[in-house]
Amino acid sequence: MSFKIVEQTTPRLNRCELSVPGSSPQMFEKAAKSDADVIFLDLEDAVAPDDKPQARKNIIEGLNDIDWGNKTMSLRINGLDTHYMYRDVVDVLEQTGERLDLIMIPKAGTAADIYAVDMLVTQIEAAKGRKKRIGFEMIIETALGMANVDEIAAASPRNESLHFGVADYAASTKARTTSIGGPNPNYGVLTDADDAGKRDYHWGDMWHYAIARMVVAARANGLRPIDGPFGDFSDPDGYRAQAQRAAILGCEGKWAIHPKQIAIANEVFTPSEKEVEKARRILAAMEQAQKEGRGAVALDGRLIDIASIKQAEAMVKQAELISG
Ligand code: GLV
Ligand code: MG
Repeated sequence: MSFKIVEQTTPRLNRCELSVPGSSPQMFEKAAKSDADVIFLDLEDAVAPDDKPQARKNIIEGLNDIDWGNKTMSLRINGLDTHYMYRDVVDVLEQTGERLDLIMIPKAGTAADIYAVDMLVTQIEAAKGRKKRIGFEMIIETALGMANVDEIAAASPRNESLHFGVADYAASTKARTTSIGGPNPNYGVLTDADDAGKRDYHWGDMWHYAIARMVVAARANGLRPIDGPFGDFSDPDGYRAQAQRAAILGCEGKWAIHPKQIAIANEVFTPSEKEVEKARRILAAMEQAQKEGRGAVALDGRLIDIASIKQAEAMVKQAELISG
């Protein structure tokens, strides 16, 4: 282990993060009753410029009046390059009670972006005597943000999670696609011919690097990595596949841009009974091995060692967080 200990952020379930436009208050009650772990009320890209002031009012009312149960509540503010952002932070933090948990910073580009929001939030919290410290979620969705992802992840003790904003990321990197978060048939490889002269074409995952890079930056700073949107809400199988591959790479959850996607995210990001049972057996086998002074043993015909303990512990911890 390095001498530097990575502090883990506030543990929260973040399997499904549901986006709800601030301009659609009629959706708030239903969202509050949904099974999403986290809800972000959006003031940014799902809200048209003329609707921003009303959306802010809706969110203030919603946070004050609606029973959101045990949900983690987040607010997606506008980007730092707009003139909406300061008022998003000031109005919502000054005019709501303690129900808000997180602020989501879109298009995070540099560590200084996080510093600026931190300064503003810190002043308001102190001036208003707010008791609960607001945490930050950063969306990594520009080339600049990806280039600075490590510094962004380390920029504030408020930081809790990094999110992959695939739509803006595609736009920023000028990726040749218009879908939101799906695979692309033109990103693939053609195999060499086999003995019969047959060649196969395999689709690749054009987002692999970006997600894996974000996961590393998040985990190196004790944050949760979360996969962003999948636009085709009529394709549950496509959503499941994208969620599954993000989970395998280390993400703890995925956005839902439609209530139909919530149950799938919850299922994919909950370790299965079989996985948890296997993890517990690994822990038991390693406990026994250590009693016998051994660092590695065989379980089901495969080698397990001290690193296996950490993998298994991470799985069991997540299962315990889910079961409450
Ligand atoms: C999310 O904000 C995205 O751009 O995908
Ligand atoms: Mg975006």
